[in-house]
Amino acid sequence: MPSPILDLAGLTLEVNHLPRGVRFYTQVLGLDLIHSDEERGTAHFRVNDAQTLTLWKPITRQANDPRLAPLRARGASHLHYAWQIQPEDLGRCKAILDEHGLPWTEIDLGTPGRPDPTVYFFDPFGHGLELRGTDLSDERRPTYPPAPVERPSHALPVMGLREVALAFGDYAAMKERLPRAYGLAYAKEQEDRDFAQFTLGPEPEPDGNGTPRRWLYAWDPQVGLADMFGGDHALVQFYAHVDEVLPRVRAEGLPHVMEDGRLAVRDPEGHVFEFLPPL
Ligand SMILES: [Fe+2]
Repeated sequence: MPSPILDLAGLTLEVNHLPRGVRFYTQVLGLDLIHSDEERGTAHFRVNDAQTLTLWKPITRQANDPRLAPLRARGASHLHYAWQIQPEDLGRCKAILDEHGLPWTEIDLGTPGRPDPTVYFFDPFGHGLELRGTDLSDERRPTYPPAPVERPSHALPVMGLREVALAFGDYAAMKERLPRAYGLAYAKEQEDRDFAQFTLGPEPEPDGNGTPRRWLYAWDPQVGLADMFGGDHALVQFYAHVDEVLPRVRAEGLPHVMEDGRLAVRDPEGHVFEFLPPL
């Protein structure tokens, strides 16, 4: 049975200073600020036609989003996630990071025959960002494929969100639960680490070689490449056939909120997954 999960829709990061977050994500990433609310401690950015990024500052006795209050949703802390860029933009990206005074690390994730140089850096809140080259002519298309973007010259030319890496304390239970409870397509795991890959699409696919697909990575708590952590208490949004995810979530007995066709679920590890109907 194909996975009901269609694509990566957005993610929410926890920050301790909202204006600093807005400054970083508008100036360094060039994202459009859609909405910000100091009182609620929230800022919401457009990434592209299908994806968004949200910042939440935790405030005592107040939910950033009252709709998700029953699930005790929080933004992710120290989350590793990746942006899609065109491979030919990598050099310019490194120069832009230098101009902003942001240290970066380059790692080649490819093979000698097909290099895949990738750049890692941190935002001011300890989230680990990655710039990953994406081959727009690759046949492995996500539901909402990335497209070339125009961003201000001082901003990184990011096309879309590529991957989110979450930490799970009980790795073995996670590997069973994610396909069962949400229908996520398990692709493979790494031989040398507790690191499972889920393809955000109907079928598991091979990762790498510039694939434009989106990914959920699930790790045991560990420090991965370039000192990046998987996120804790993340809030991640996916496009999905919601009517196919809901019976799974009910059968699993997980706390959830269904409103306006959107299904939000609290995973036993404290992550909140929100499933949005296709656009
Ligand atoms: Fe990564």
